Amino acid sequence: MRARISDNTQDAADFLRDGRLVALPTETVYGLGANALDETAVANIFSAKNRPAFDPLIIHQSNANRILEYASSVPKDAWKLAEAFWPGPLTLVLPKKDIVPDLVSAGLKTVALRVPDHPLTREVLNLVDFPVAAPSANPFGFVSPTTAQHVADQLGDRIDFILDGGPCRVGLESTIVGFPDGKTTVLRKGGLPIEDIEEALAHAVAVRTHGSSKPMAPGMLSRHYSPGNRIELFRKLNTDTPVPTNSAWITFGGGGPVFSHHESRSLAVYNLSPNGNLAEAAQQLFRVLRLIAERKYEYVAVQLLPEKGLGRAINDRLRRAAATE
Ligand code: TXA
Ligand code: MG
Repeated sequence: MRARISDNTQDAADFLRDGRLVALPTETVYGLGANALDETAVANIFSAKNRPAFDPLIIHQSNANRILEYASSVPKDAWKLAEAFWPGPLTLVLPKKDIVPDLVSAGLKTVALRVPDHPLTREVLNLVDFPVAAPSANPFGFVSPTTAQHVADQLGDRIDFILDGGPCRVGLESTIVGFPDGKTTVLRKGGLPIEDIEEALAHAVAVRTHGSSKPMAPGMLSRHYSPGNRIELFRKLNTDTPVPTNSAWITFGGGGPVFSHHESRSLAVYNLSPNGNLAEAAQQLFRVLRLIAERKYEYVAVQLLPEKGLGRAINDRLRRAAATE
C-alpha cells in the first residue's frame, strides 16, 4: 500500500467512515486520524505508529459545543479557554464519558479534546458523524510532521490517504491543559503560549515541566523528539568555538540568511528566524530538526530561544531533542 496524497475532503471522510487511517492537516502538526468510536480503527493508529498503548490519544471535534458529548464535567476555566481559543492549538483534558473507548484514553478516567483550526480538516469533521482520534502522524519518538510529504516519508506505506493541507501554520503541537485536583495546569507546552492562557483566565496557571516514567502526557517523556544526532544547547553560541567536521548550528535572530554553509569549517548554519520572530521559528523548527536527522550531522550546537511566548515550547522541544535518555 502507498498512501494517496490529495486535498479531496470527501475522499478523506469516506476513508474514515470505512474505518481506515487518514493523515489530516491541522494548524499545529499533521495528525494520524481514525474514527474515535471504532476500537479497531483506533488500534490501527497505535500499530501504524508503533505507539505504546499507555499513551492516550486526542479526540478532534468539529466544534466546542460538542464538548459535553465526551466530557462528563467541564470546569469553569475549561469553558473559558474553549471559548477563547477553539478552534485553535489548545487541548483540554477532562473527565471522560463512557462513550470514549478505553483504548483512546489508555485506560485513564480523562479524555483529551481539541477543535483544530484548519479549513480542510474542519470540513472533514463536519462531513463525518463521529469524532476523530489523532496523534501526531509520525512514528513514535520522532518529530511531528508539518507537511504532507513528511507524513508520506515516514508512514506512507502504512496508511491509505494523506489529506494535503499545505505546511502547518503553527508548527508545534497543541498546548495541553488539564485540571488535576481542580488546579488549571499546563501538561504540555505547545502552540498556544502560556501567557495567552493566563491572560484569558486572568490568573496564573500551574505548569508541569518534568518528564517522568509515568507521565500525565507522554509527550513529556524526556527523550521524545529525537533526531538522533549529538546535540548541545547553549544560551549563546560562541562563533569562535571549534566544531568537528560535518557539524551544524541551529540559531535564532541576528539577521542573515535562513541557511548558510561554511565550507572552510564544514559547518551548516540553520537560522529558525533571522528576524527573531518566535512564530516563524515555531513553524520552521520540526522541518529543521528533520533536515538535521536526514543529513546526519556529527554534532549540532543549538542556541536556545528567549524563554517567553512560543519560545518556551520551542526550547522544550529542543531540550528533548538534545536529551540522551
Ligand atoms: O497539536 C496536537 O496536539 C496534535 C494534532 C494532530 O492535534 N496531536 C498530538 O497528538 O500532538 P500526540 O498524540 O502526538 O500527543 C498528544 C499528547 C500525548 O502526549 C498524550 O499523552 C497526551 O496528549 N494525552 C492524551 N490524552 C491524555 C489524557 N487523558 N491525559 C493526559 N494526557 C493526555
Ligand atoms: Mg506526538
